[in-house]
Amino acid sequence: MAFESKIKTIEWVDNYSRMVDQTVIPYEYKFVNITDGEKMFNAIRDMIVRGAPAIGIAGAHGVVLFAQEGVNKFDNREKFVNWLIEKAEYMKTSRPTAVNLMWACQKQIDVIKASTSDIKGIVDELKENAIKLENEDIEINKKIGDYGAEVVPKGATILTHCNAGALATVGYGTALGVVRSAYAKDNTVQVFADETRPRQQGARITTFELAMDGIPVTLITDGMCSYFMKKGMIDMVVVGADRIAANGDTANKIGTYTVAIAAKYHNIPFYIAAPLSTIDTSIATGEEIVIEERSREEVTHINGKIICSDKVNVINPGFDVTPHELIAGIITEKGILRPDYNKSIAEAFKAV
Ligand code: MRU
Repeated sequence: MAFESKIKTIEWVDNYSRMVDQTVIPYEYKFVNITDGEKMFNAIRDMIVRGAPAIGIAGAHGVVLFAQEGVNKFDNREKFVNWLIEKAEYMKTSRPTAVNLMWACQKQIDVIKASTSDIKGIVDELKENAIKLENEDIEINKKIGDYGAEVVPKGATILTHCNAGALATVGYGTALGVVRSAYAKDNTVQVFADETRPRQQGARITTFELAMDGIPVTLITDGMCSYFMKKGMIDMVVVGADRIAANGDTANKIGTYTVAIAAKYHNIPFYIAAPLSTIDTSIATGEEIVIEERSREEVTHINGKIICSDKVNVINPGFDVTPHELIAGIITEKGILRPDYNKSIAEAFKAV
């Protein structure tokens, strides 16, 4: 059963992309219009839009924006096409870990390559494809939510890390999609949200969007999860993913691996919720996933204020990889994939 969320994170409007500015939540809930390709590259890099499926759609919009600019630059179709493919490849590099970004830009490259239209026609086809990907994202998340809700026990407390919600997708969310669908069936389920240092997506974004939809949420700091697991206060963990290897190893926000180890120790099922577009079957294991390194300021500062010695060394990986053996299931739009993931993932792709 689908729960109706009020949030639409990113949307193509006439000839530009409109998105929620996630850098100012929870102080403000405002939209920004992105009107050219370079600005979209920067919006993804600077995390105005964030979350794997949302940056995929942003990338697809970015290719349309570049295409619109190309109309005024080129008369020659071949030159336009070559230039635009280069721009789409460039857009893929705006962040390195979430494979949905590369997947969606590649979908746009496929449209460019398959097109027999003139320059103007290619722009229209790219726009149409971007809107199609946008709509599909919500439908896919609702399916993920409904499959996931089947494994949520009555009255469960669900722990999540980072934000894999409506604000990390076009709408509804993956991990929080499972929460929304479960809540629609049983309004006694509730969420525990990890703060998610350093950027605090759990505190800033997950608590904000769940509160907006009226779903009960309790904020805890990252170090508290095993304390509550030992007390028997957590029934299951559901998180999102940025890239899943063919064997099920899963990259997600830094700190996810710690939660998965704690869940295994306490015998609590740990689930990933993600669309098939997050699965990268070109890589055999998580060893091959590129982990984004982010700035020292994200760790040394909170809200612009330094919280440590300015001489301290800092390392700031944005993601970690949870080994497949810690994962009870991967909840996708094709159902819940179970170990052996090499087999279940291959089967899921055969059915596409
Ligand atoms: O750095 P972010 O905020 O883009 O990281 C987001 C996450 O790690 C999410 O859990 C993941 O992208 C899944 S979103 C449905």
